[in-house]
Amino acid sequence: MKTFRLASLAMSIATLFAGPALAVDPATVNWNSVPTKTLNLFYPAQSSYQWLRSADHPGAQVVTGGGACLTCHKDTEEKLGNKLVKANKLEPTPVEGKNGVIQLSFQVAYDKENAYFRAQWKTRNNYAGDAHPFVRFNGKEWKTYGFPKLDAVVQKGEQPGIYEDRFSIMIDDGRVPEFANQGCWLTCHNGERDNPKFATRAEVQANPLYQTLKQNDVRKYLPSTRTDGLASWDKGKTSEEIAKIKAAGGFLELMQWRAHRSNPVGMADDGYVLEYRLSDAGGNPFGSNVDPKTHQPRFMYDEKKVGKKALTAGDIRKMPTALVREQNAVPFDPNAGWKEGDLIPEYVLNKEGAKGSGADNNQVKGAWKDGMWTLVWARKLNLANPDDKPLKEGNVYNFAFAVHDDNITTRGHQVSFPVTVGFGAKAAIEATRLK
Ligand code: HEC
Repeated sequence: MKTFRLASLAMSIATLFAGPALAVDPATVNWNSVPTKTLNLFYPAQSSYQWLRSADHPGAQVVTGGGACLTCHKDTEEKLGNKLVKANKLEPTPVEGKNGVIQLSFQVAYDKENAYFRAQWKTRNNYAGDAHPFVRFNGKEWKTYGFPKLDAVVQKGEQPGIYEDRFSIMIDDGRVPEFANQGCWLTCHNGERDNPKFATRAEVQANPLYQTLKQNDVRKYLPSTRTDGLASWDKGKTSEEIAKIKAAGGFLELMQWRAHRSNPVGMADDGYVLEYRLSDAGGNPFGSNVDPKTHQPRFMYDEKKVGKKALTAGDIRKMPTALVREQNAVPFDPNAGWKEGDLIPEYVLNKEGAKGSGADNNQVKGAWKDGMWTLVWARKLNLANPDDKPLKEGNVYNFAFAVHDDNITTRGHQVSFPVTVGFGAKAAIEATRLK
């Protein structure tokens, strides 16, 4: 009783001195009063920046000149997606049974402090895609178990397809040339993982730009950061030139809600695309759970909370699997009597691990029910970080969306053409002003 009184006193003091009002829980927004925009997201296969400008694409000339995809592809998402998802010249590794199109329902509202997003889509599977690769004990050592479905080991049946569902938002404020017309295709290039002319680890490590970045693979980048006409991955500008582009706002916001690696702590990650797909300063709420020296897990499940120290294959899809420092994880004990088939997640979450600009999306919640994800998301307006695109009343932005569904990563997503979103301004999607 006494403790309770003390606690409530402490709470009212905290409320008095809390400073700016706490953000509104995005779940309490009256979403019934906010119009819904339905977008058809489609499977793009390997339609890279370079392919779109090649003789194989009838629209090459217009695309090279900066023209809009929708000049020729208006209302063709279903046709494109259903064709490209099957084996064809742009899809050398089709995934059996994959759907070509996903309908996304998107709503936007805002008040003085935040923008609020709500996104809904149906999943192909009759379960929440919240599992992610594990490490499995084989009697001797811990080896990765579960891979995304474009990987050869899954396509050959040697490994199960396990990868988290994701929902990504890209935002341009008009300062990325051609994004309004060509959207995320500006960032999708030959050399990237699962794309044509995949750049090997050795090739990437030999490249000066990637040496500076300390990265071993090619990921999304903007053509403005390359020196040649076709924006080749290996023709990077100097760090000084790239820093100038960033300072002038020539980068894209890229935020990803992740069913395994961010949702359990109520977050989405916060990143941006410039010369690479980069994380905002402060870091993500997740990190590797594998010790690079011992190749053993760093954390295991807390038996008191989960009922066991590790899972087995039969547990996947039957229970949430995320390992969360603040909730259900304890340091790994190498002498805990591990058995062949024991599984521990390959990543560990830590809400406190994301700080500063990297922790901006800390009010995001996704729930899966009856075959559908529903996400609600609050994003502060007027952010002043150098790696964010601040959302401001009176402005129009170009948004583009991606959904990763059914255990897949890289280009195995369904994507949208770019669409304008206005906050108190004319646009294809006009955010509803809340009282
Ligand atoms: C000037 C017209 C034009 C523009 C602009 C254009 N395209 Fe195309 N594109 C075509 C035509 C014509 C085809 C042939 C197949 C068809 O009719 O859909 C095609 C085919 C494609 C295909 C392969 C589909 C298939 O059936 O194999 C993809 C993917 C594609 N375009 C994406 C894009 C994207 C993305 C953009 C913008 C960056 C774009 N196109 C801009 C005219 C255009």
